[in-house]
Amino acid sequence: MANLRYTSPVNCDVDVNASSMKDKTAIVTGGANGLGEAYVRALIEAGAFVVIGDMDSDGGVKLEKEFKGVKFVNCDTSNWDDQARLFQEAESFSPTGKIHFVVANAGIHRKDEVFAYAGDGNEPEKPDLSTINVNIIGTLYTAKLASHYFIKQNGQQPSPSQEDTCLIMIGSGAAFLDCPRAPQYCATKWAMRGIMHSLRRTAFYYGSRVNIISPWYVKTKILSEERFAHVKSVGVQLAEASDAGQCLLRILSDSTINGRSIFVSGRKWSSRGYLDLDIDDYPQGSLIESIQEDQIKPAPVDMGLFI
Ligand SMILES: NC(=O)c1ccc[n+]([C@@H]2O[C@H](COP(=O)([O-])OP(=O)(O)OC[C@H]3O[C@@H](n4cnc5c(N)ncnc54)[C@H](O)[C@@H]3O)[C@@H](O)[C@H]2O)c1
Repeated sequence: MANLRYTSPVNCDVDVNASSMKDKTAIVTGGANGLGEAYVRALIEAGAFVVIGDMDSDGGVKLEKEFKGVKFVNCDTSNWDDQARLFQEAESFSPTGKIHFVVANAGIHRKDEVFAYAGDGNEPEKPDLSTINVNIIGTLYTAKLASHYFIKQNGQQPSPSQEDTCLIMIGSGAAFLDCPRAPQYCATKWAMRGIMHSLRRTAFYYGSRVNIISPWYVKTKILSEERFAHVKSVGVQLAEASDAGQCLLRILSDSTINGRSIFVSGRKWSSRGYLDLDIDDYPQGSLIESIQEDQIKPAPVDMGLFI
């Protein structure tokens, strides 16, 4: 298939060799707590430098004090100026002056007012759609800034001297499963896959890759204690934040992985707590695969055609 530069399903049942991560610089948005903190810890353990962009100063400063290789920048990812400053500060902090990896992790989950019924006799009220501001708009800002810095560092045409760079976006089980009562959150997580499917076709022009990590339930502050207790009480096995950290290293340390969504799962579904469910491509020889090929034929994949 023309311009196909994404890879086949990733073998997640292998030991991770993260030695190539040493002295690289990564940005992790929402890195002050929960899964973001797990990504930060995994990166630091692999010898990378990490810049955290988060609104939680207490959590961010705590990690900055704990690790010499961490810098915290107070940043609301849904605010363009904040994120532009985050990337500027990361470039200054990086010992090489380069940003190699960007993890667009900041995300929120709120009670979904799109689903809510106003009650008999009441008029529906305008729903709060702020989840979209953080989960989609914030991530699109991150994707734009990551592309800018990757192109600035690597140029616009493929060449052997380009240094590996990678954008990771965060999906969820809600990016591919039916999740009742959460149309807004689901929309934001399916959106991550839409962004990735577009970018995976062109990222290689600037020596870059784009992938998704989709965590299953992991106990963090994103949902209440009661919600997690309920999930466990009905017999659902949670996934582990540390497995998400290893999943990140698996993707970042292997420059052949592009255009994949890796699921961070309960251990009952995978020995290492993450696997490639192979949901990103259509079956070979299927009608939809050949329609996809026609869609790509006239598409502007190189930078020249973008302008
Ligand atoms: N925990 C889960 O079960 C689960 C499952 C699937 C996907 N996810 C996704 O993983 C990501 C991290 O979630 P988590 O569970 O660690 O949540 P969390 O609430 O524990 O941590 C989120 C972090 O993001 C920060 N943040 C929130 N909005 C921000 C903004 N506008 N700007 C900057 N920082 C912001 C918070 O301060 C916090 O540090 C999210 O994208 C979430 O949708 C989580």
